[in-house]
Amino acid sequence: MGVFASTDDPVSTGHEQVVFCQDKQSGLKAIIGIYSTALGPALGGTRFYPYASEDDALADVLDLSRGMAYKNALAGLDLGGGKAVIWGDPEQIKSEALLRAYGRFVESLGGRYYTACDVGTYVADMDVVARETRYVTGRSVEHGGAGDSSILTAWGVFQGMRAAAEHVWGTPSLRGRRVGVAGLGKVGKYLTGHLLEDGAEVVATDVNPKALTWVRANHPQVTLVDDSSALVAADLDVYAPCALGGALNDDTVPALRAKVVTGAANNQLAHPGIEKLLADRGILYTPDYVVNAGGVIQVADEIEGFNFERAKLRATRIYDTTREILNLADAEGVPPAVAADRLAERRMADVGRLRAIHLR
Ligand SMILES: NC(=O)c1ccc[n+]([C@@H]2O[C@H](COP(=O)([O-])OP(=O)(O)OC[C@H]3O[C@@H](n4cnc5c(N)ncnc54)[C@H](O)[C@@H]3O)[C@@H](O)[C@H]2O)c1
Repeated sequence: MGVFASTDDPVSTGHEQVVFCQDKQSGLKAIIGIYSTALGPALGGTRFYPYASEDDALADVLDLSRGMAYKNALAGLDLGGGKAVIWGDPEQIKSEALLRAYGRFVESLGGRYYTACDVGTYVADMDVVARETRYVTGRSVEHGGAGDSSILTAWGVFQGMRAAAEHVWGTPSLRGRRVGVAGLGKVGKYLTGHLLEDGAEVVATDVNPKALTWVRANHPQVTLVDDSSALVAADLDVYAPCALGGALNDDTVPALRAKVVTGAANNQLAHPGIEKLLADRGILYTPDYVVNAGGVIQVADEIEGFNFERAKLRATRIYDTTREILNLADAEGVPPAVAADRLAERRMADVGRLRAIHLR
């Protein structure tokens, strides 16, 4: 979400449904948050994380499920927004029984919520959850799943970057542009490949030596810098945060030399107000949840029976959506993060309203 301030009160955040689930024997403690089903069943992953308290787990699921409603709306999906958290250390308590108990709670919602992978849960876990529920995506290829979602995430980020380039420089091509990729993980590596293929010059960094070795071996033309501070301060045209959240903050934004920020990382804006700081500095920021929707587009496609080409076509439309957001931002005189939120809210209201037309 662009400018959403976190709160742990489901009444004031307007969530439709928040479900607390417990299975004492297996140690399962989960919260499923459904923010909106205005556009269809809520889809969002399951985060398995050792939260310090139940309040922290609740605050996270409320934030994340709301964010998914906006992401799915702008991805053009007929899906609402939901998310789940399992409270505990996956290294210690993850088991077949716990995952299946969780699956039964998902099933009990009768299709109002579809789950998928998130931090701490993997494709193999979704296969276990699926033994108890039909309402699960992010499954293994052997089970008809989409496999590695970072492929279309990177493709979508590339499309969002092309739209931003066109807005700023009049051409969507990245040829000759210097793009700084922070984080050469699953998404960053694929993104680097697309950028090089388009003729961009890539400058990159990662804290993991294995990622650096991979890039040296596969893309020796990439210039590596010491850390993300060096990358932020480098002479870049585009900055692409592809590591952790909070990349755009009170320290990095004043130091940035790039004209465009487009990356895969979730929650790039460290706090509300950063979107304004970027706009004041004349830096075009494409909202993270818009450009990184290729992953959810990929797993959502499983609901229809996975077809990679169809999913890729949908992820390619991130180019059009980003253009629309940037034009709306100009027309309404607001930062793109605000324009994106408005567009998502408009679709949820305009299309969600149609349910009021009585059919039989
Ligand atoms: N994989 C997806 O489909 C997907 C979908 C939507 C959003 N995202 C988001 O995109 C981001 C990247 O996802 P991923 O799947 O590539 O994750 P990943 O864990 O494979 O890669 C992240 C990379 O960032 C590096 N990194 C961590 N801290 C760093 C730092 N301070 N400076 C430089 N590098 C650092 C890590 O070493 C790692 O190589 C995450 O924020 C994720 O939430 C991913």
